[in-house]
Amino acid sequence: MSTASRPLLIRGGTVVNADREERADVLIVDGRIAAVGEAAVAQAPSGAETLDASGQYVMPGGIDPHTHMQLPFMGTVTADDFFTGTAAALAGGTTSIIDFVIPDPKEPLMDAYRKWRSWAEKAASDYSFHVAVTWWSDQVREDMGTLVREEGVNSFKHFMAYKNAIMCDDETLVNSFRRALELGAMPTVHAENGELVYLLQQEVARMGITGPEGHPLSRPPMVEAEAANRAIAIADVLGVPIYVVHVSCIEAADAIARARARGQRVYGEVLAGHLTIDDSVYRHPDYATAAAYVMSPPFRPKEHQEALWRGLQAGHLHTTATDHCTFCAAQKAAGKDNFAKTPNGTGGVEERMAVVWDAGVNTGRLTPSEFVAVTSANTAKLFNVYPRKGFVGVGADADIVLWDPKATKTMSVKTQHSKGDFNIFEGRQVTGIPSHTISRGKVVYANGDLRAEKNAGQYFKRPAFGPNFQAVQKRAQDLAPAAVERKG
Ligand code: URP
Ligand code: ZN
Ligand code: ZN
Ligand code: ZN
Repeated sequence: MSTASRPLLIRGGTVVNADREERADVLIVDGRIAAVGEAAVAQAPSGAETLDASGQYVMPGGIDPHTHMQLPFMGTVTADDFFTGTAAALAGGTTSIIDFVIPDPKEPLMDAYRKWRSWAEKAASDYSFHVAVTWWSDQVREDMGTLVREEGVNSFKHFMAYKNAIMCDDETLVNSFRRALELGAMPTVHAENGELVYLLQQEVARMGITGPEGHPLSRPPMVEAEAANRAIAIADVLGVPIYVVHVSCIEAADAIARARARGQRVYGEVLAGHLTIDDSVYRHPDYATAAAYVMSPPFRPKEHQEALWRGLQAGHLHTTATDHCTFCAAQKAAGKDNFAKTPNGTGGVEERMAVVWDAGVNTGRLTPSEFVAVTSANTAKLFNVYPRKGFVGVGADADIVLWDPKATKTMSVKTQHSKGDFNIFEGRQVTGIPSHTISRGKVVYANGDLRAEKNAGQYFKRPAFGPNFQAVQKRAQDLAPAAVERKG
């Protein structure tokens, strides 16, 4: 449990929010931001601790909207649990995660939800949950209502891949999207056509390809684009906003851009890994190295990276995430003779902020404010916790990262805090890293010293009917067809 900490005064830094940068001091009292600007010093109690932020940016702590801590998946469980995974997040400047409750088909949503809530109690950072709809029944429909109204869940996830496991068919997609609209909750999709993946996995195996190089061959960009287009079309017909997770390719990004150009409320997430890593990793001569990169959708040829960056710049992709889902070499080895059996997933929760800063801000693709938008504020807005999270301003949770734009670091498994035994960014040198991370007013990371505490993280509820839903409701009323009244 978080204990009340001393008031904290952050002096001399540049506060960066999604809409502006300004030189300002920040006062934190009781885990919240109490004052910004001249009032911060004026109101600081005499016992306040002071942090010198000169030469640094003072930004909202990162929100990673896509992680899987302690996930049972493909016959094994991820290496990072909710404590080690969120501790790694804090070391990298991320103060909140939105993880996933993933019920087995036929498992009641509420049972799965309670199970995940109990697993997550050990979290060191704040956390929330999207809940996956993996099957359909009247009970699922009812549980979605309970989750939204009583548990603060305002988003539901749909896996269009992973046939014979957690894949949703179109009937479930349609039922669940319609129900989500009724409840004011955002449907989200993992967009890959699971039938095509299943077929291609067998065809690739018949070509004698059993290693990790078979993974991207079984999941080409069009497999992702088909599912993205289908989910977007279903959402359009039903009039519900939609959020596409881990957009990895030009074709899926284009599907989102086209829909947005038609006025549809479609949102896209992109992973730090997809922005910076290409598919050559699957042809690495060392099996364990190649297998370590097996995740879905796969890393893509280089030209896709530039399109994803342009999506963030143009505003048709909105959030950055990691899909942090770590499996060790021994676990990955389940796919030694058949790439399709490799547990899918890679890490990155600690690295995301610095990778996006270095490859985004240092190259001029993003301004510091745009960086804040895509690393926290946009997620907070889409999932309706803004400005409590994703904002440095009075009344917000004091989730803050002090960012040193001159400090450098080389990413490595040797220095990472994640319990995974691999770092997909190994050897990448970045400029711009957190010096301090503050989670609800407590300094939890200071210049290499990680002070993550078990159970210090709090579950945050996310209210339904965010601004998007108010807009789609008005739009539906405005465009509602009417019957023709005829005489006789
Ligand atoms: O390969 C991945 N991404 N593993 C985690 C589950 C998912 O699809 O997001
Ligand atoms: Zn507490
Ligand atoms: Zn996924
Ligand atoms: Zn995922």
